[in-house]
Amino acid sequence: MRIVITLGGSVIIRDHNPQLFQDYAQVFKDINKENDLFVVVGGGKTARDYISIARGVGASEALCDDVGIDVTRLNARLLCIALGNKAYPRIPQNFHQAQEFATSGKIVVMGGTEPAHSTDAVGSILAEFVGADLLINATSVDGLYDKDPKKYQDAKLFPEVTPSKVLECLSGNEVKAGTYEFLDHTAIQIIKRSGIKTIILNGENPENIKRALNERIGTLIISED
Ligand code: UTP
Repeated sequence: MRIVITLGGSVIIRDHNPQLFQDYAQVFKDINKENDLFVVVGGGKTARDYISIARGVGASEALCDDVGIDVTRLNARLLCIALGNKAYPRIPQNFHQAQEFATSGKIVVMGGTEPAHSTDAVGSILAEFVGADLLINATSVDGLYDKDPKKYQDAKLFPEVTPSKVLECLSGNEVKAGTYEFLDHTAIQIIKRSGIKTIILNGENPENIKRALNERIGTLIISED
C-alpha cells in the first residue's frame, strides 16, 4: 500500500522529547517494511509561538503562515534525522519533489508547502498527488466527535463519517494562522473529491498508527458514493 500519514505537531513536538521522535521513527520504519510511506509533520505549539511573535512584529497573516511552514519543516527534519537512512535525506518543498524523492524507496518526510492551510491539507493533497491508498491523520484526539471532547464530557465519537458530515462539523471555525482545527476545509474538500480512504486517530500513542492498519480505530472517513 501507499500510505500518507499526517502527524500533528501537537503530537510529536509535545515536551520537546527526543525519545518521542525515536518512537515514531520506529513505528514508521515498521510500516515502511511493507508499504510506501510519506509523513507530513505539523508545527504544534512551537509554530504557534513563532507565529505569535511574527504577528507581534507586524507580519501579515500570509507571512505568519510562512513562518509556521518553516517550523513544520524543522520538525520534519528532526523526524528525518531520527529515521536515519530509512528516510530520504531532504525535505520536499512541494508535491513534485515529494514524488521524485519517493522513487528512492525511502520514507519521504515533509512539512508545509504554501500559506493559508494546515499540514493536514498538505497530507490530503499529497495523498491525491501520489495516488495514496490510505491517509492517516494522527492527532491528539481519538477521532472526530460531534463536539469538542476537551470541553464536553458527553461528546460522541463518530466511528465512520462521510466527508460532507465532517464539513458540517467544521463549519463556523475561524481560519487564522496557527489556529486551524485538526482537519481544515481544504483537507476535507480534497478527501471528498478524490475519495481517499482516511482514518483520524489518536497519535499520542505511536502504536495506534500501526494498529490502524489491521483493526478499526478512530474515525474512518469514507465517500458517500
Ligand atoms: P500545522 O499544520 O501544524 O497547524 O501548521 P496546526 O493546526 O497548528 O496543527 P498542529 O498543532 O501541528 O497539530 C502550523 C501553521 O503553519 C502554517 C499555518 O499557519 C499553520 O497554522 N502552515 C502550515 C501553512 O500556512 N501552510 C502549510 O502548508 C502548513
